[in-house]
Amino acid sequence: MIRTHACGEVSAKDAGKEVTLCGWVDTLRVTGKISFLLLRDRTGIIQIFLDTGLTEKYQHDLKKESVVLVAGIVHKRPENQVKKELKTGSIEVAAKKLELVSAAETPLPIDVIEDTTTNIDKRLDYRFLDVRREQVKHIFLVRSKIYSKTVEFFEQAGFVAVQTPKLTASGVESGAEEFKIPYFGKTASLAQSPQVYKQMFVVSGLEKVYEIAPIFRAEKSHTTRHLTEFTGIDFEMGFIKDEHDVMQVVEDYFKFLLNEIKKSCKEELQYLGVPVDIPKSIPKMTLGEARKILKEHGKTLPEDEDPDAEAEKLIGDYVKKKYNSDFVFVLDYPWKKRPFYHMRPENNKKITKSFDLLYKGVEIGTGAQREHRLDVLEAQAKEKGIDFKKMSFYRDIFRFGAVPHGGIGLGLDRITQQLLNLPNIREAILLPRDPERLTP
Ligand code: 4AD
Ligand code: MG
Repeated sequence: MIRTHACGEVSAKDAGKEVTLCGWVDTLRVTGKISFLLLRDRTGIIQIFLDTGLTEKYQHDLKKESVVLVAGIVHKRPENQVKKELKTGSIEVAAKKLELVSAAETPLPIDVIEDTTTNIDKRLDYRFLDVRREQVKHIFLVRSKIYSKTVEFFEQAGFVAVQTPKLTASGVESGAEEFKIPYFGKTASLAQSPQVYKQMFVVSGLEKVYEIAPIFRAEKSHTTRHLTEFTGIDFEMGFIKDEHDVMQVVEDYFKFLLNEIKKSCKEELQYLGVPVDIPKSIPKMTLGEARKILKEHGKTLPEDEDPDAEAEKLIGDYVKKKYNSDFVFVLDYPWKKRPFYHMRPENNKKITKSFDLLYKGVEIGTGAQREHRLDVLEAQAKEKGIDFKKMSFYRDIFRFGAVPHGGIGLGLDRITQQLLNLPNIREAILLPRDPERLTP
């Protein structure tokens, strides 16, 4: 490695030692003939003292965001001169040698400062520079942990990780538009859900499967919560009694996840100013009950309609007040709005054994018990006007011994957005794809 230490790792314990550091120029302050360089890498910022000679030689080269290599001696600061705003505030490095590794052009195309005034579109054009900002970096450190802790949860819970095709013949997720692409004289669709495959591999005898993978939706929506490519966290499990078994796993997952994030992302959460409330249990309400509550709050939600963003927000606020919970399961979505593969209760064919999970008033997941009885499934497809014959490989799943099963599709981007209270889902993904954006 070209450095002995990362910038944020040097501490008073290293006083007197020679260290070699390498990072980006955060700021250079020249005072008279000497200067102070704030050098930054992923771990933090450290102050470097440059004497007259080094200042004279380098002050015009050390443009913000250039990469420099510095060798120098660590000095402990006197107690009354500790810089509280820096993690390394108790020390300073007196440079002996300096080397410009890679110069940054000026001017920078976006503000690489915490209180940026650059708009989000421009920031996304130069996302790699934007990520150099502490705020943004912390978001992606938390997202990374959400990802790894999710894997940890499902592994511990005995689920099998699967990777299913993203190039498919046709989707099963009714209502979600597909991206069509040429495929050797045929037309393929980019997977808008692993739905078919996760059911297939429960029935295969793997029993409990999960997949964390990209999902593509050709939705021309310009909202703060929709992308055309996002990361789905999907799981599916067999031998369930009903959809409540699925909800139990979802509840266990979020308790585990939030606990772990709280423990392992202390610094990030503190920097971002985000408190994390862990639910003791997740309250449940039917969509019928939600409709009544909405009515009381002046919002009419017609039967057979899904809650819109405003309705979800109202429901979220209501459960926060009533149960002090950031989460709520809303049950029994109308058959009219749900895909044909959702199971319906025996005594009410107008609803499905489905649920949405709302987190701080935004849908982050949709789940259900699936219909595994072929005759019922066929009848349901017919009712929805779907030609089941064209989906023979999906139909086959239920022909040779299919167990009762259910699952959920969650969105990693939305979970990150809601956990960190981000105003736009584009803040929660490195390189968002939406109807207007296909680069970088
Ligand atoms: O609600 P959706 O469309 O449900 C399914 O895909 C079903 N197969 C799930 C199931 O197993 N029954 O998508 C699931 C989740 C949403 O709740 C949301 O978190 C996320 O995926 N999602 C999106 N995230 C970002 N941009 C979009 N356009 C999204 N569409 C769905
Ligand atoms: Mg949904």
